[in-house]
Amino acid sequence: MTDVFATDPARPLRDIDLADPVLHAERDLSGLWRRLRADEPVHRQPGRGARPGFWVLTRHADVSAAYRDSERFRSDRGNVLDTLLGGGDSAAGLMLPVMDGARHASLRGQLMKAFSPRVLASVVDSIRRASRQVVEEALDKGRFDFARDVAGQLPLRAICDLLDVPATDRQRLLDMTSSALGAHSEAELRDGSWVSKGEILLYFSRLAAARRDDPREDVISLLTQCRVDGVPLSDEEVILNCYSLILGGDETTRLALVGMVAAFLDHPEQWHAYREGRVGTDSAVEEVLRWTTPTLHAGRTAAVDIALHGQTIRAGDVVTLWNASANRDETAFHAPDHFLLARTPNQHLTFAHGAHFCLGAFLARAEIGAVLRDLRELVGSMEAAGPARRIYSNFLTGIGSLPVAWGPA
Ligand code: HEM
Repeated sequence: MTDVFATDPARPLRDIDLADPVLHAERDLSGLWRRLRADEPVHRQPGRGARPGFWVLTRHADVSAAYRDSERFRSDRGNVLDTLLGGGDSAAGLMLPVMDGARHASLRGQLMKAFSPRVLASVVDSIRRASRQVVEEALDKGRFDFARDVAGQLPLRAICDLLDVPATDRQRLLDMTSSALGAHSEAELRDGSWVSKGEILLYFSRLAAARRDDPREDVISLLTQCRVDGVPLSDEEVILNCYSLILGGDETTRLALVGMVAAFLDHPEQWHAYREGRVGTDSAVEEVLRWTTPTLHAGRTAAVDIALHGQTIRAGDVVTLWNASANRDETAFHAPDHFLLARTPNQHLTFAHGAHFCLGAFLARAEIGAVLRDLRELVGSMEAAGPARRIYSNFLTGIGSLPVAWGPA
């Protein structure tokens, strides 16, 4: 990818539009993040036309402090740049990632029961079996699209296990989720995404109604039984929280898996080190998470005026916390631009930090670990078999199509 400063090394930072999905898909931003961290750690992205401006935090220390400070950096108007710039999230206050305070803590506490390693043991077993199966099938093919045939088969299956979604509906849900959040071209970016969001909500409204009447041992049933301040969640809250799990856990994990294999292709010495057992799976999983950072940013709204590094963020301003930059911060990581599977410590912010720390982190780690182990045991050689295609989004980043050729171990 071309460096964003390739044609004009002196290009002013304010001219670069961080809200532009094309920038994230088609440009190497490592130089931009370095410059922002060094020269303008609290950067003001000016408004464009009717679109308001927003603040950009890029240092690891500042991003992690803002995540911890959910009193001043609020999520309850939205946590994604586009929705915040568009006037706020319509699910604000109803869906876990876009709630704050006591209500958030209460709902999160109840949902955590369904995300503990003990409760997830059966989902993890099912992930291991599914991973083994899809990796073996891919090896039989020899040449295939890793994004579609391997990564595309696992995360949604895990979330569907959590929600007990019927097997016959799963492929349709996958198609809807990929067009709701990411796009594979500029044209796709313009249409489709709002339609898919509506379809997902409608699908869950039917499933939630069935589970309210006939609860089982799954997360949808748990949501229908949750009480906050003694009051059950409304249908709308149940549906939105299902939607949030699927959008939060499917494409993110897929992008991490695809980015992992792309990184192995670009850094064969790391693949060999892992295959030969010179690096353990746990540290490899963490480095894959840091390297791929599927969620580029999280959005917040300042609750009060906040003074930081000589700037004043005004109450009501939109603030973006860039995980993509924090995870490459030279003050937090040794050799941050190197993919090093043995890296420890590895305090990446891929799952955020503080009150909203990703609820699915254990599940995502289990999925990446399962695929890594299967690659080590089953795959002997891997090479690129065509061009990788990146997705177009200012919120998620990674590869939507990755043709590869594998040989058996
Ligand atoms: C929250 C990233 C996988 C469910 C978050 C947040 C991030 C994140 C950055 C914080 C958002 C914020 O602070 O505004 C990721 C990445 C994943 C992943 C990169 C995969 C590699 C999953 C999975 C699930 C999930 C598998 C569920 C099945 C959630 C939920 C929250 C959340 C429910 C909201 C927690 C809260 O607000 O209290 N995730 N996630 N995520 N994630 Fe994940």
